[in-house]
Amino acid sequence: MITLTIDNRTIDVQPGTMVWEAARQLGIEIPTLCYLDGADHFTSCMVCLVKDNRNGKLLPSCSTPAMQGMNLTTNDAEVHESRRASLELLLSEHVGDCEAPCQLVCPAHMNIPLMNRLIAKGDFARALEVVKRDIALPSILGRICPAPCEAGCRRKPIDEAVSICLLKRITGDEDRAQNKRYMPKLKSLSGKRVAIIGAGPAGLSAAYYLQQNGHQAVIFDQNERAGGDLMKIDADLLSPDVIDQEVAAITATGVQIHLNETIDNHRFEQFRCEYDAVVVAIGTITEGNPIFGLKTNKQGLVVDKSTYLTSEPHVFAIGNALRASKLAVRSVGQGKEVAEIIDSSFHTGEVVPRPERFNSKFGKLTEPEIQEYLKESVSAQRIKAGTEGFTREQAMAEAARCLHCDCRAPESCKLRLLSDQYGADQRRFQYDERKPARKTISPDGLVYESGKCIKCGICVRLARQHQEEFGFTFIGRGFDVQIGVPFNETLQAAFRKTARLVAKNCPTGALAMSELEEKI
Ligand code: SF4
Ligand code: SF4
Ligand code: SF4
Ligand code: FES
Repeated sequence: MITLTIDNRTIDVQPGTMVWEAARQLGIEIPTLCYLDGADHFTSCMVCLVKDNRNGKLLPSCSTPAMQGMNLTTNDAEVHESRRASLELLLSEHVGDCEAPCQLVCPAHMNIPLMNRLIAKGDFARALEVVKRDIALPSILGRICPAPCEAGCRRKPIDEAVSICLLKRITGDEDRAQNKRYMPKLKSLSGKRVAIIGAGPAGLSAAYYLQQNGHQAVIFDQNERAGGDLMKIDADLLSPDVIDQEVAAITATGVQIHLNETIDNHRFEQFRCEYDAVVVAIGTITEGNPIFGLKTNKQGLVVDKSTYLTSEPHVFAIGNALRASKLAVRSVGQGKEVAEIIDSSFHTGEVVPRPERFNSKFGKLTEPEIQEYLKESVSAQRIKAGTEGFTREQAMAEAARCLHCDCRAPESCKLRLLSDQYGADQRRFQYDERKPARKTISPDGLVYESGKCIKCGICVRLARQHQEEFGFTFIGRGFDVQIGVPFNETLQAAFRKTARLVAKNCPTGALAMSELEEKI
């Protein structure tokens, strides 16, 4: 047996055991990208580094055999920084978008490409489910939103942006036409209660997501009908019936709305005693008009920008009360965010910002890249809708124009997860012009995006182990080495037996099955 020390803990292991495995036996987790249990090894990513305390050297734990008397550290600042630098080197030449540009621009952060894929297949019910994860009022916003997402759409410079807003509208309109409308999954009641002052887009949205998390949302509004400023919009553009029907879908979840209730300072203080949190969503505030004793500036109520917490504990503020805006989608997005922040504060006792996720981005498409992206789309002009919006057929045709700019592995990609964990900065080592984005799509559903490949060689080794005729191989040398199919064979020929296996084990979204993307 070999005896070594890892993070001040001693362990005996069999000769030939790697340091990574010895650490695992001690319950110490070391991140990996290029290592795959059971496959031959090829050291490349360097995210598994640990420090040898005897000489200060950093070693790749996945391929360094445990030696008698070794003394290692796996988690100090130097190791952390080295792993971060390894990730940043990989990211410096990474060409991929974890999330589509339209989704990043949308103030409610809606998963637009997934909605588009489902509509293109005619699955309007699941498309609505996707929309309602982020936007509580799709039929309303589908009529009035100026669609900032469309300004960020990759399709815009090619011909015209995908008609995202109208596609969202039809998901809501289809649902309103059903007898049995969509009902989100509701958690059982937590016993927590939240008072929301204002039944406009921000308050309705906050209530919808709080209720889904099991917290009783109770809205108070001074008007005789819910909707806030939405009720002032020209009825030809947004009929009050549409507002009522969207509000009905929200109250169906258990949200309570008390109308004709004016809230003065005394009532507000009562709310603070009786409820676990209060959300102020009262719309635009007149300058110089003190609101419930909360701190204000020229624009409106003052809040911590990352948590929406006002100057008072457990009191949050969202929507136009912070700053007048014509973008109802911003208020709707803030309603969802504050609901998540309050929910997490109920669980942890602390008000903390929502975690920012790492997002790889590569910017505009070049002319040749447009052709690559059109492989998953159609060449067709934007479809003009009638006054009633799209018909189902028109919507399906319009949704098919989407280029699917998002990644197929946004939740499982280890490069993204570790970049989040280590706070990696994609731009730190980016000096050269970026590589081109390419997509190779096999008829059996395997998709290869070379820009996202970190050259870990896992797919090469798996194909070899399973005796694929071709598999992938390393092409070229040094920094310019690429992974690809030898002898100009096709992707399908490369992985006849192992397409699903390599897609499952690729640590990034470089190799993926196209069907994976339709999971909600
Ligand atoms: S492969 Fe990973 S890091 Fe790259 S775009 Fe996809 S999810 Fe993001
Ligand atoms: S083409 Fe589709 S995925 Fe790409 S930005 Fe436009 S709507 Fe979003
Ligand atoms: S395509 Fe192959 S070499 Fe590239 S990241 Fe995926 S598994 Fe690794
Ligand atoms: S070098 Fe060890 S996991 Fe990549």
